Amino acid sequence: MDDLWRGTTALVTGASRGIGASFATALAARGVRVVLVARTAAALEEVAGAVRSAGGTADVIALDLAQPGAPAALEAEVARRGLTVDHLVNNAGVGPQGLFHQLPAAAHLPTIDVNVRAVTELAARFLPGMVARRRGGIINVASTAAWQGLQWIPVYSGSKAFVITWSEAVWVSLRGRGVRCLAVSPGPVATPFFEHNQLDVPLPGWLMQSPDTVVRAALRAYERDACHVLPHPAFRLLAWGTRLAPRWLAARLGGWYGAPTSPSTPPS
Ligand SMILES: NC(=O)c1ccc[n+]([C@@H]2O[C@H](COP(=O)([O-])OP(=O)(O)OC[C@H]3O[C@@H](n4cnc5c(N)ncnc54)[C@H](OP(=O)(O)O)[C@@H]3O)[C@@H](O)[C@H]2O)c1
Repeated sequence: MDDLWRGTTALVTGASRGIGASFATALAARGVRVVLVARTAAALEEVAGAVRSAGGTADVIALDLAQPGAPAALEAEVARRGLTVDHLVNNAGVGPQGLFHQLPAAAHLPTIDVNVRAVTELAARFLPGMVARRRGGIINVASTAAWQGLQWIPVYSGSKAFVITWSEAVWVSLRGRGVRCLAVSPGPVATPFFEHNQLDVPLPGWLMQSPDTVVRAALRAYERDACHVLPHPAFRLLAWGTRLAPRWLAARLGGWYGAPTSPSTPPS
């Protein structure tokens, strides 16, 4: 397994907090040089500082992945620094709350830009090099929200369904090429995600997994070259249940998730 990590570099998007920061720390602990990407330079520097204090190597590149030119700029900056991306962790993600017809198009599109377009473009830019070197791979962070349409986070759940289906297709195409592609479907995770997306979702603390638990499961699955991992045991059951149910029923049952508890939350 050391061969997978030894002397390699991982680019982690959304590394300024939450699951991405946890990926950065866990990869650095495996001896991997980490390139940390998100919008907030100060928060990235804090994560980089923690990695360096633990003896690791971290680089910081602050940019907004919702901008159309961002993946190209990121690839150019990585090359300018003389780095090679062996592992790409497509983790940055956003998901505003609201019934589809209640939000303007401008509220939906950044979710597609960050969760779908940037994810796909970064993979398209970095994967050919991995295939040529027969080494490394991609970890795409999806969500159990992908397993059925969720009316209160409709574009988010659709974007994560894209991530899973596309990752599976890429995983198959990489068989025998020495390169991995893993989709990770976390259930609810205790991160600032809810606060940053103004998601008013009343979930009991005991149902939340820690980012470190999710990342441990993801890296174990990546090490065994799995196609998909769903780290939350209870949500694993739910997710497989939705596969057996008719799609309308799964959507109906999932319809409660994300319903705002405060009457001021839904946009008018
Ligand atoms: N928390 C959960 O319950 C949960 C469950 C299932 C799946 N997930 C998925 O897990 C991933 C990580 O989520 P998290 O819980 O760690 O969320 P989080 O705490 O909100 O972190 C999101 C990360 O993405 C970065 N980001 C957001 N918009 C960006 C943009 N336009 N350009 C560049 N970076 C951007 C944020 O940094 P800046 O704000 O500094 O840019 C931050 O580092 C996401 O894909 C999310 O959908 C989360």
